[in-house]
Amino acid sequence: MAKGRVNMGRIDRLLAEMTLEEKLGQLSMSAAEFAVTGPTSAQGIAESIRAGRAGGLLNIWGGERTRAMQRLALEESRLGIPLLIGFDVLHGHKTIFPIPLAEAATFAPLLWERTARVAAEEAACDGVNMTFAPMLDVARDPRWGRIAESPGEDPWVAARFAEAKVRGFQSSDLAAVDAIAATAKHFCAYGAVLAGRDYAPVDVSERLLREVYLPPFAAAVAAGCAAVMPGFNDVNGVPMTAHVDLLRDWLRQESGFEGVVISDYNAIAELMTQGVAVDLAEAASLALTAGVDIDMMSGAYLCGLPAALSRGLVGMDQIDLAVGRVLALKERLGLFEDPYRRGSQNALVASRRGLRRDLARDVARRAIVLLANDGVLPLARDLRKIALIGPLADAAAEMLGPWPGAGQAGDCVTIRQALTEALPEAEILYEPAVGIDDRDASGVAAALRFCRDADVVLLCLGESAHMSGEAASRAKPGLPGIQNDLARAVLALDRPVVAIIGSGRPLILPDLVEKAQATLATWFLGSEAGHAIVDVLTGAFNPVGRLPVTWPHDVGQIPINFSVRQTGRPADSGAPYASKYIDMPTEPLFPFGHGLSYSCFIVASLHAEPECFRPDDEISIAAEVSNLGPFAGEETLFLFVRDPIASVARPLLELKGVAKIALAPGESGILRFPLPARSLCFLGADLAPRFEPGEFRFFVGPSADPAHLACVTLRALSD
Ligand code: NOJ
Repeated sequence: MAKGRVNMGRIDRLLAEMTLEEKLGQLSMSAAEFAVTGPTSAQGIAESIRAGRAGGLLNIWGGERTRAMQRLALEESRLGIPLLIGFDVLHGHKTIFPIPLAEAATFAPLLWERTARVAAEEAACDGVNMTFAPMLDVARDPRWGRIAESPGEDPWVAARFAEAKVRGFQSSDLAAVDAIAATAKHFCAYGAVLAGRDYAPVDVSERLLREVYLPPFAAAVAAGCAAVMPGFNDVNGVPMTAHVDLLRDWLRQESGFEGVVISDYNAIAELMTQGVAVDLAEAASLALTAGVDIDMMSGAYLCGLPAALSRGLVGMDQIDLAVGRVLALKERLGLFEDPYRRGSQNALVASRRGLRRDLARDVARRAIVLLANDGVLPLARDLRKIALIGPLADAAAEMLGPWPGAGQAGDCVTIRQALTEALPEAEILYEPAVGIDDRDASGVAAALRFCRDADVVLLCLGESAHMSGEAASRAKPGLPGIQNDLARAVLALDRPVVAIIGSGRPLILPDLVEKAQATLATWFLGSEAGHAIVDVLTGAFNPVGRLPVTWPHDVGQIPINFSVRQTGRPADSGAPYASKYIDMPTEPLFPFGHGLSYSCFIVASLHAEPECFRPDDEISIAAEVSNLGPFAGEETLFLFVRDPIASVARPLLELKGVAKIALAPGESGILRFPLPARSLCFLGADLAPRFEPGEFRFFVGPSADPAHLACVTLRALSD
């Protein structure tokens, strides 16, 4: 754990010296300059810092600006306590990496850690000492715009993502000049908002909480995450900002979290709108009692806690506990020793720019998922004319995606730029044809002319960056504007078409995937988007990305995910009264884990041992993989488990491991999945963990598609 050094003597001394207002100041974080996601009350921020009424700032970065603010706190406030400086560094600070959903598609924890490390270095250089990331909301509803910020649908993946990101942001020493405090958010089950509508209520069973939504947070806590942010949502009627059972009993007591809980933006005041508090005093007392230490932006602690104290709703001991935790975080960050240590390393970071861009390109191309390909990709080397069509072909700002940190559109490479660079001999006929989300069709005729004339059409469609992320839920998550019309017209020409889909979520793509010769999911890939996409198009990079979410045919299938329990009337039973739709398939368009390569891999054999195991044993599963294709490539295999008969019905497939292997054409190799037998425990009817004897089936394959899974059966013996 990145513990840093905590000087308890100093914390006790400060607590003894502080006025009530100064204590509440330490518990308040305000937007310094601009508000991103809500109302701002930033006026007079300098005055607040001087008066000790602001212990932290958000949405500010830059060496000079942050130093100036720290100087105000250090030199002009009575107690000279340094500031927390927080910023949303979701997928890069200045060098922008793929959005988290896309990064998840790499299934590469070491890369997840490296991008967080680089982001932390850059942000720390800019004076930031805390980030509101990683976002760990398991998300199974593509209508929800924040699915773009999430690691996808699976709790095992989200837990690995949590560990990697916490390690990357915080390093092994939180006080280091290039480390920043991570905030695991949004605690919890925010991804289950009703009908995918942002900020909506959440109703989930305790089983779902414990099996799906809590494990990523448990992993973040175990990795030493410095902070946790409750979500805007309620869970079963109790707003998360005031959720005693989850924030205090589960987070603090059960999982042992000792760090800081910071509210979401204005969320404490919103307890009044959510209907559980009558005024700021009640709202503040509910949040403090649940264990929320820092009030982001609502002013409820500063304005409401004095009244709450005099009404007896809270005690000074609760306030002191919260202040103690905030000061301990500042200690761990090394802020008392040297508040200016971050924000002064610009030359150092500038010197490694090339390396960061290389990393951004590598992660971006690994995040691209080749959804379908009839052989048109990789592009033939002798193409003379390429029609580059669509609103995302040359759209630098969109490449950044939602939550772009301090990234600049001007630093992003577009598809058009990269294609021109990579294929200097080819003639590139570029025409956006339509806007992302308008109905102006005036460019379509020119685009069709170019297509008719071309050897291949690259059709770059999708969402704008603002259509994903916070408050960007879509009831119809398809191609916006008139892009479907454009696609239809282009596909009718009978030219080879490669559809390149940029989005923050799986999009509903009627007919497009079937009719195009190839389709790529390119998400929002960040600074090096263009290079990454062109590397895959030309075959300079053989695609490895896999879907971290199930991709539905239609909105009617949502929410959709692979890890579901068996019904008594399975869809594939052939019975008329089965669990299925009468108007569309139950299977998705693409399953979790789907993603093609230019190579062709097969699982030649699967072995597992021991045949019978007990809870303390280690199970070993080994798959022999062969590359039968013409290109060197990397295969990713997933290990799923099924417990077919148990005291509580278990999911048909539960993810337990992911492994990768690079193979030359014709080469074979072994992928191993070590698995502690104890990880086969599940929550019984009483929600206590149990290990039940009996048969377990282990499946290994390239995705959650049952048709492509090899299976081996072992037997669990009782303890
Ligand atoms: C609101 C968002 O929900 C949260 O994720 C973010 O960290 C804060 N605003 C601060 O920008």
